Amino acid sequence: MEKVNAPIGVFDSGVGGISTLQTLAKALPNEDFIFYGDSENAPYGEKTADVVCDLASQVIDTLQLQAVKAVVIACNTATSAAKPQLVAAYPTLPIIGIEPALKQAVDAGKQHILVMATPLTISLPKYQAQVAKYQGTVEIQSLPCAGLADLVELGHAGLPQIENRLTELLSQVDLSAVDGLVLGCTHYPFIESQIKAYFDHPVAVYTGYDGIAHNLSHQLANQHLLRSANPERTVKFMSSRNTPTELALYQTLFDHGI
Ligand code: DGL
Repeated sequence: MEKVNAPIGVFDSGVGGISTLQTLAKALPNEDFIFYGDSENAPYGEKTADVVCDLASQVIDTLQLQAVKAVVIACNTATSAAKPQLVAAYPTLPIIGIEPALKQAVDAGKQHILVMATPLTISLPKYQAQVAKYQGTVEIQSLPCAGLADLVELGHAGLPQIENRLTELLSQVDLSAVDGLVLGCTHYPFIESQIKAYFDHPVAVYTGYDGIAHNLSHQLANQHLLRSANPERTVKFMSSRNTPTELALYQTLFDHGI
């Protein structure tokens, strides 16, 4: 197959990256996509950075067997923990990664920002350096959301427990002045409306998805890898939990959300 016609690999620790994939598939309608969810090893956000790096490189190896032309790390945790190591390990493969969209919220003029992300993302020097850069100019509350991605992994069936977990988590922060909400884990956009229900005022939400779609398209164009036409475009799903039920859940989340 000519390289330009190869699919784009997108992966996450589990179902979260499917929310990113929805944006990428819309923004790049001529591209084929293969999504890999490492649901068997979720959550990444409660492991060490070294373990996440190993798991992410195993996923990239699997995607390379599908001859992908580029890889999108649709996981804030894996990007924050391992992107430089992955880029160094796969020098000929364009690798793009999503990160908590704190800068976008600051650039949009938000003054009181709440960042929800996994415990690992929030603990990493990369995120802490970003907070140090903006804290003072704006107010930033960082909320590590242990257990939340796990519940989103259950799909619709997890909604009652998600409600309880959100109540526990969001009672730890002051929501009264928050004007910018950064969903710094790709599992959370699936429950954006449930999260927004805790605010008694409008709040702007930042996922970083538009940026990543733009970045991917730019990198492919630079390398002459952007497809111009593909009337029968495909979006395929793979999972480390390779059961028909799991793959059906991926398809449902992609088609309809939670
Ligand atoms: N969806 C992932 C992220 O964007 C990680 C969730 C997890 O596995 O902990 O951070």
